[in-house]
Amino acid sequence: MATRDKWGSKIGFILAASGSAVGLGNIWRFPYTAGKNGGALFLLFYLISILMIGLPVLIAETSLGRFSGKNPVGAFKSIRPKGQWKLVGYFGVITGVMILSFYSMIAGWTLGYFYKAITGKFKTMTSANAEQIFTNFAGNTAMQIFLLACFLGLTIFVVSRGVSAGIEKYARVLMPGLFILLLLLLFRSLSLEGASKGLEFYLKPDFSKLTPGIIIDAMGQAFFSLSLGMGAMITYGSYLKNDENLVSATAWVAFFDTFIAILAGFIIFPAIFSQGMSPDQGPALVFNILPVIFANMPGGIVFGSLFFLLLCIAALTSTVSLLEVATAYGIDEKKWSRKKAALIVGALSLLFGIPSVLSYADIPFFQKLPLVNMSFFGLMDLLWSNLALSIGALFLAIFVGYVWKTSNALKEIAKGTGKFKFAKFWSISVKFLGPLLIIAVLASYFFK
Ligand code: PFF
Repeated sequence: MATRDKWGSKIGFILAASGSAVGLGNIWRFPYTAGKNGGALFLLFYLISILMIGLPVLIAETSLGRFSGKNPVGAFKSIRPKGQWKLVGYFGVITGVMILSFYSMIAGWTLGYFYKAITGKFKTMTSANAEQIFTNFAGNTAMQIFLLACFLGLTIFVVSRGVSAGIEKYARVLMPGLFILLLLLLFRSLSLEGASKGLEFYLKPDFSKLTPGIIIDAMGQAFFSLSLGMGAMITYGSYLKNDENLVSATAWVAFFDTFIAILAGFIIFPAIFSQGMSPDQGPALVFNILPVIFANMPGGIVFGSLFFLLLCIAALTSTVSLLEVATAYGIDEKKWSRKKAALIVGALSLLFGIPSVLSYADIPFFQKLPLVNMSFFGLMDLLWSNLALSIGALFLAIFVGYVWKTSNALKEIAKGTGKFKFAKFWSISVKFLGPLLIIAVLASYFFK
């Protein structure tokens, strides 16, 4: 594997890993999950999860990736060739394919809303009709499958071109653009009448409402947002050069990712409350509120189109990393060509994405599955985003803490980092704090 493709630079890794981290998770999933879970209370536990477990696991995943130079399955095998640890790698590969399937459906929504924006459809959207417009849009199954396929096609195209030529080149230019547009929206949203109610919801926790469900959602969101628990960062770490400072690179990634999610909350909640809408409307939330904001804003067509275009691109840099995990597995372990691997995995995701699309069609079975009482898409999101990533992160922490051993991981980390100031806290978090917290949260969820 002497010729394994590498990131062109540290900034290349930071941008590509931030590209993976920053996506629909920050701008679509974070606001609606916070909205469902009482706002401020969720924000608090989200931040705690990022600092106490998220960043330490991010460092652990990336260092395992760089050390092994492999995909998740190969990474576990390179340290424990015998035994069952490689199953954790396989679990990550499968999780990636499944998340990709429904994530691409939402990415298809952003593509559709970009089209609405650029053709001036937002002009007629109000807080009264936005929900109906969304329901009609998401319920159009043929169009949704078409959008899903388009988005997966785009992802396959980028991944086929390889790491530094494809992924890095796109991430470099586009991430800063999204950031600037978000700042603009922030000022717009904060200046709306009634914005302060939204700020209160977002910043003033009501501890009497605390439930285990809120904490598991916050932790799951932290893993989802940082792209942890399924080996994406093992894979991206495998393309990181040895002389790069792994700690500062990952810390920047966590910082950007968290900053953008928080920013999204500061945009969405003041806007929602100023329009008298409910923060508790689930996955449609940002699609219901943002067009209304753009409709009433000078230059709304331009800003609205740009926003949804950049959101598509942010989603693309994330779907690329979701696809890259299973693709790297196909290349390394199955000896497939990059193109073949990306095509096969992409096709599988398309197949699994279709029942999620049907959750928004007028088909009672997919809207409310028997026994679980939630939609097919809702079940997929719960199983793969919240549970699978938490379980994946748990096993990763145990593996790095006790099998590879933190002392070895620290040697890997030291390569380009030199002195790692928080080495002690990091070891404690990976060996004890992280696993215990994850187990406690999962247990409280299952045995409530
Ligand atoms: N972190 C991405 C987001 O917040 O949109 C989603 C994601 C990408 C999750 C890659 C997991 C992953 F491996």
